[in-house]
Amino acid sequence: MIFLWAFLATAAAVNVEELVGTWTTKSKQVFTGPDFYDPLNDRFFEPNLTGISYSFDGEGHYEEAFYRAIANPTDPSCPSGIMQWQHGTYTVSADGSMVLHPIASDGRQLLSQPCVQDTAFYTRYNNTEKFKGFSVSVDAYNHVQRLDLQQSTGEIMHPMYLAYRPPKMLPTNTLNPIPTSKKKRELSSGLHVVIKEELINPDRWWWFGVLATSLGGAAFFFS
Ligand SMILES: *[C@@H]1O[C@H](CO)[C@@H](O)[C@H](O)[C@H]1NC(C)=O
Repeated sequence: MIFLWAFLATAAAVNVEELVGTWTTKSKQVFTGPDFYDPLNDRFFEPNLTGISYSFDGEGHYEEAFYRAIANPTDPSCPSGIMQWQHGTYTVSADGSMVLHPIASDGRQLLSQPCVQDTAFYTRYNNTEKFKGFSVSVDAYNHVQRLDLQQSTGEIMHPMYLAYRPPKMLPTNTLNPIPTSKKKRELSSGLHVVIKEELINPDRWWWFGVLATSLGGAAFFFS
């Protein structure tokens, strides 16, 4: 009896509905959706400030947008910039833990190191994320809804605040499958061997021919 009560109490504490919406860190400059990543032209739009955004819908889909600076120890005035985008499905367990399963062919990363080299690296990005738990509350200072995510390492992420409900998300289906015909064409056209490898192992650098972004990039790619 006590066991059953404990189980029900735990189950009741996990309210997935609360997650639904678009959440963003306090810079309020980074949001999931078409203003961050354009899947048609396969390119990013650089936000004005760094930040993180997650969206969840009520049907088990998520999307995330990260724009972060990475400190440059040799020149603190010249950090690197990284943009990452993924979407896919999320599952929440009865204990409140959550796993985000990305669509592997859709995730993208743009790494720009303006003081190191004048190219930016545009690659696929496929990173399954695990969280110990999440909590939605009303922020004592802003009086807006706030989401705290606890990573599997135990670390609590920067708080995010509710920006849109319903969430602002790109279509939740696969946006960039690797068409077999394209694969064949590239393989038979005698392109550089790295590209061939990329189609087999998408974790490696992958060429897209994307033009420069304001992050300071010029052209991209290779191994
Ligand atoms: C994406 O990541 C998952 C989890 O690490 C892995 O199982 C899967 O093979 C990866 N997919 C691709 C296409 O790299």
